[in-house]
Amino acid sequence: MKSFTLNLQTRIIFGRGCLSRLGGEAASLGDRCLLVTGRSFARESGYLKTLVEILSESGLKVTVFDKVEPNPSIGTVYKGAEEGSKNNCNLVVALGGGSAMDAAKGVAFLLKSNSKLEENLFPNEVNDALPLIAIPTTCGTGSEVTKYAVLTLVKNHAKRKVVLLGNPLLPKVSILDANLLNHLPKELVAYTGFDALSHALEAYTSKDSTPFSDLLGLEAVRIILENIIEAFRGSPEARENMLYASMLAGMAINFAGTEIVHAMGYYLTNYHNVHHGLANGMLLPHVLRMEIQKGFGKLEDAALRLGLVNGMELVKKIEELVDRVGIPRSLKDLGLEEDELDAMVADALSYERNVNKHPLPLTAEDLKMLFTTAFSGRRFQA
Ligand SMILES: [Fe+2]
Repeated sequence: MKSFTLNLQTRIIFGRGCLSRLGGEAASLGDRCLLVTGRSFARESGYLKTLVEILSESGLKVTVFDKVEPNPSIGTVYKGAEEGSKNNCNLVVALGGGSAMDAAKGVAFLLKSNSKLEENLFPNEVNDALPLIAIPTTCGTGSEVTKYAVLTLVKNHAKRKVVLLGNPLLPKVSILDANLLNHLPKELVAYTGFDALSHALEAYTSKDSTPFSDLLGLEAVRIILENIIEAFRGSPEARENMLYASMLAGMAINFAGTEIVHAMGYYLTNYHNVHHGLANGMLLPHVLRMEIQKGFGKLEDAALRLGLVNGMELVKKIEELVDRVGIPRSLKDLGLEEDELDAMVADALSYERNVNKHPLPLTAEDLKMLFTTAFSGRRFQA
C-alpha cells in the first residue's frame, strides 16, 4: 500500500443551524475580525448582517471586506489585506463560495507575512497565516477544508490561475450549515456540484491519490450522483447531502490534488468567463471516457464499487446528469471558436501541477482530441 501522511487540522462543524456557533468559535481565535465575502449574495440574503451581529455579540470588532469578485484577482487580495491591516485584524472569517474563501486565505497569509503573494505562489509553500474560519454558501469548492487558494494573476493581458498553498491556509474552523444553501440559485447548485464531482473523481484518478483519498473521493461521487438532480430541483435534504459530499471531495483533493479536467477548464474560465464548475462539468465526461478507453482499470474498479456495470456506464451516467441540469452540450455553444483549439491545448499543458497528476501517459494530441470532441459536442441523447 502507498504510504501517506494524514493531517486533519480543521475543526468541522456540520449541521443545520450551526452558524449560531460562529461567535464562540471566533472569540476563541481572535478579537478583531475581518469578514471577507462577495459583492452581493451575503448582503442581499441578509447573512452579512447576521454574521456581523453574531460576531459583535461575542465581543469581536468586525471589519467587512465585501469586494471579492468571482475568480478573485491577486489585486483584490491585496485590497482585503489593506483593510485588515488598517483595522489591526487578528482573525479572518470567510463567507461565500470558493472565491470568497480563497481570497480570504490570501488575505490571512498577507496579514501575517511581510512578503508578497507573488513570491510565495506554488511551487513555494506559505509558512504562516492568520487563523481563518470558513463558512461555505455553495456545495462545490471544498475550499473550507483545503490548504489551497486558487487566485487569478493578470499579466500583459494573459490570465493565469495561480495557487497559494500550505497547511497554515487550512481553515481552523469550518462551519457547514445547509440553511445557507436555501438561497443558492439552481444553476449554481449544478455548477458547483459538478466542480465537487470533478474534485472527487480527479482526486481518485490522480497519481497522488492514496487509499484514504480514494475513500473520500468515492463516497463523494456516490452521494453526488444520487443527489445532484434533487438538489438542483431545490430539495433541502439533497442540498445538505451535496454540502457534505463537496466537503469530502475537498478533503480528497487536499491529499491528492486535481488533474487535467481542472487544467483544461482554466482556459474557459480565464478567457470566456465560463463558471469554474460549468467548465469542469463539460469536460469531465470526455476525460473519463479517454481514461477508460486507454484501459485505466482503477476507473473500472470505481464503477463496480459504485454498483455500476463498468466504467463506460459511469461516464454515461455523468453525461445524463450533465444534460438533465441543462449544461450546454458543446464548447461551440458557449461561444468558443475552432481556431482557439491550439491555444487551449497550450494553456492546459502549462498547468504542470495538474497535468503531472494525470495517471496515464498524456500527449498534446490527447488534449487536442479532448478539446476537439468537447468543442464539437456530445453524442449521448438523454
Ligand atoms: Fe475546482
